Amino acid sequence: MSKSLQAIRGMNDILPEQTPLWRYFEATVASLLDGYGYRQIRMPIVEATELFKRSIGEVTDIVEKEMYTFDDRNGDSLTLRPEGTASCVRAVLEHGITGGGQVQKLWYQGPMFRHERPQKGRYRQFHQIGVEVFNLDGPDIDAELILLTWRLWGELGLRDVVTLELNSLGSSEARVRYREALVAFLSARLELLDEDSKRRLTSNPLRILDSKVPETQALLTDAPKLADYLDEASRVHFEGLKARLDAAGIPYVINPKLVRGLDYYCKTVFEWVTDQLGAQGTVCAGGRYDGLVEQMGGKPTAGVGFAMGIERLVLLLESLERVPAALSRQIDVYFCAFGEAAELAALALSETLRDQLPHMRLQVNAGGGSFKSQLKKADKSAALFALVVGDNELAERVVGFKPLRGQGEQQNIAWDALPAHLAANLNQV
Ligand code: HAM
Repeated sequence: MSKSLQAIRGMNDILPEQTPLWRYFEATVASLLDGYGYRQIRMPIVEATELFKRSIGEVTDIVEKEMYTFDDRNGDSLTLRPEGTASCVRAVLEHGITGGGQVQKLWYQGPMFRHERPQKGRYRQFHQIGVEVFNLDGPDIDAELILLTWRLWGELGLRDVVTLELNSLGSSEARVRYREALVAFLSARLELLDEDSKRRLTSNPLRILDSKVPETQALLTDAPKLADYLDEASRVHFEGLKARLDAAGIPYVINPKLVRGLDYYCKTVFEWVTDQLGAQGTVCAGGRYDGLVEQMGGKPTAGVGFAMGIERLVLLLESLERVPAALSRQIDVYFCAFGEAAELAALALSETLRDQLPHMRLQVNAGGGSFKSQLKKADKSAALFALVVGDNELAERVVGFKPLRGQGEQQNIAWDALPAHLAANLNQV
């Protein structure tokens, strides 16, 4: 196939072998969020470019170099969303659903787009499930978000491979004071800074804290600490969060250098990280953004949320071989019919079975073939049972019921008795 017709680099097909795990993951998260009273919201994938510039921040990596931005036919600048928080804030404001202090606990899921250098766990189109809560300003809701992700890791069998990193960025005033102190400290040592950090010194100095350059990290050992600049309210909030996590028995580490790559955060920030995925180890990340709604033109409204990267979590489940065994079987019963009259009977019978056993996954053989070849297909399908109808079965109004996984011999079952027989047998597995 010519290169120009292939998928865009960093944008992946999710093939039929992979979708069962995706669907399992998505369904697990959705039912968990239902259980905590979160409601789904769906936003467009394309938004006005200005929305992301204003919310994520002009001098962030995302806005400076990673957005897919284009002019549409009207000449309006549009962008494929690089994340969901900005769109979600726009949506709640536009529909007035956080007005008057109304609490909203929302979640969304879907593709996000960032023009990053693709590598394992990092793609240009990737998928997030995100959660955003509005109008709750206490540490109790920050704790709830962390508790529900901890529960998710439990359900997925991932608790032993993820670590929670926590930090508080303080109020925006506290951050301004800290920023000044950090800039003063680093400016006096300019010649020791790497090029990227020099550039950030004027644009976004806090991001220097999570520089990967060892010399810069060494320099930061003696730099002013964000924790020493926290305002009282943020300090109390952070203590409240830690007390709740302690009470619930959730392990965490404080990472004073955790600042996150988006500008809207204040107070709590957190990341769930794993060392099992190489360089792209953050599987879920978020924090509080109490100033964002106001910054976007709304009334002061507390906000907090997180998003997880589905690709990374799916990769983690696969690489640790923690994929539930049941996912390898996509059908339960394979219906073989030999001869035209038997095919017609099988089709009618299979519809009756679907009426009575709506959860059974039944595949009717298509494309004819000898009994032998149909049974081969049945076996290959990984189904548990085959149903077999030929002229003899048709005449006797029975179906051959053939266990395919060593659960006994084939036997004839009367058509009327088939639904109950199937139900009983499928229940046992
Ligand atoms: P983020 O840290 O930019 O935060 O992304 C959240 C998660 O999305 C990451 O931890 C990672 O798992 C996944 N992710 C990000 N970029 C990529 C990529 N290029 N390829 C694969 N996965 C990726 C946000 O997006 C915030 N909106 C989170 C938030 C919600 N904060 C408050 N509310």
